[in-house]
Amino acid sequence: MVKGNMIIKNASEIVTSIGKTAKFGAEMQELKRIENGAVVVEEGVIKEVNNTSEILKKYDESKYEVIDAGGKSILPGFVDSHTHFIFGGYREEEFSWRLRGDSYMDIMNRGGGIVNTVRDTRNASKECLFELGKKRLDSMLEFGVTTVEGKSGYGLDYRTELKQLEVMKELDCEHAIDIVRTFLGAHAVPNEYKGSTDMYIEFLINEVLPVVAKKNLAEFCDVFCEEGVFSIEESRKLLLKAKEFGMKLKLHADEIVELGGSELASELKAVSADHLLHASDKGIEDMAKNRVVSTLLPTTAFCLKEPFARARYMIDNGCAVALATDFNPGSGFTNSIPLMFALASIYMNMTIEETIVAMTLNGAAAVGRADSIGTIEPGKKGDMIILDYNSYKFLPYHTGVNIVGKVIKNGVLVHQKQNF
Ligand code: NIG
Ligand code: FE
Repeated sequence: MVKGNMIIKNASEIVTSIGKTAKFGAEMQELKRIENGAVVVEEGVIKEVNNTSEILKKYDESKYEVIDAGGKSILPGFVDSHTHFIFGGYREEEFSWRLRGDSYMDIMNRGGGIVNTVRDTRNASKECLFELGKKRLDSMLEFGVTTVEGKSGYGLDYRTELKQLEVMKELDCEHAIDIVRTFLGAHAVPNEYKGSTDMYIEFLINEVLPVVAKKNLAEFCDVFCEEGVFSIEESRKLLLKAKEFGMKLKLHADEIVELGGSELASELKAVSADHLLHASDKGIEDMAKNRVVSTLLPTTAFCLKEPFARARYMIDNGCAVALATDFNPGSGFTNSIPLMFALASIYMNMTIEETIVAMTLNGAAAVGRADSIGTIEPGKKGDMIILDYNSYKFLPYHTGVNIVGKVIKNGVLVHQKQNF
């Protein structure tokens, strides 16, 4: 049997958005629902989606791996479009301080935060980061993630930034999950450049970025644009250079204060602006107008005890919202998709349909792959999940619980929950 030839039949429903570009505003509410559905995948690519009787009339089951969905719901695989999953060490002490009232920035300004993870990541061998990364990807897969974005940014030197990106490249070959790599050399100013942010930016521009681009180690360039970290001007300078090298752009924008990151992302036609807890009305208008995906990270706001981003306002004002976990060792050490769904639907007032689009097609758009993943329709990769229940509405309803039973990647069953 050819690898990636699969028929999934007898789904109570196949629920998906349709299209090859992000959904903006009210479009985020639209999902197609095929009852008693079946999907045919050939050599990893979706060939046909229809109801089961039509599919079985037309295709010879003996030529395919056949999965009986047994009256359960099928959705596209989730795209976690913002993570920092390659890192050494942990920061559980800092989290305990935050619970006692310290803020994320207080800890950073005292010399803690990101630079602690930088020390541990510099000290970790490539093999160690690879093994850690693999375990973390296994956990993501269990939650139904079939594509993940991963950032560098815990090296802040030539050797370790490249090491992080190379580890992700190797993991991409080895693991079922596809990995989209982002260069985040401008994540913090390392101790050796303390007080000389401009020189650090010059170092990134002259010595690291050209190598990352030449070796094709990252598709995207990102910056932590924040008061006390990288200013609007410094971020613009680096991102413009990255654009010259043919890289696509992302931005950690307006997370802690309203600095104008969403406006900058719009000006530079970035693919996404992320966090956005303090995005201004003007920034939101700009993102909608310039087709920048607004990536919201509810678990981070939750772990920082900050107010959530204004998802409802953004969607009502025409933005394309994506949801991602921001999995990292500091601001939010969680890759929990169910927690994210719960926060987005219960506290951010997104409808269930909107959360699904935000985790599938809009997530795909946030990593520049809306043409090949994010929906269940002919021509897209055969990346799908089968839930434990017969309706997608169980996603926020079975609150905080993982209800992904099976995961299919490129038409191959890559994960099955025990006792499913
Ligand atoms: O997206 N805000 C900046 N970067 C990460 C946190 C990284 C860390 O604390 O280690 C974020 O929240
Ligand atoms: Fe982040």
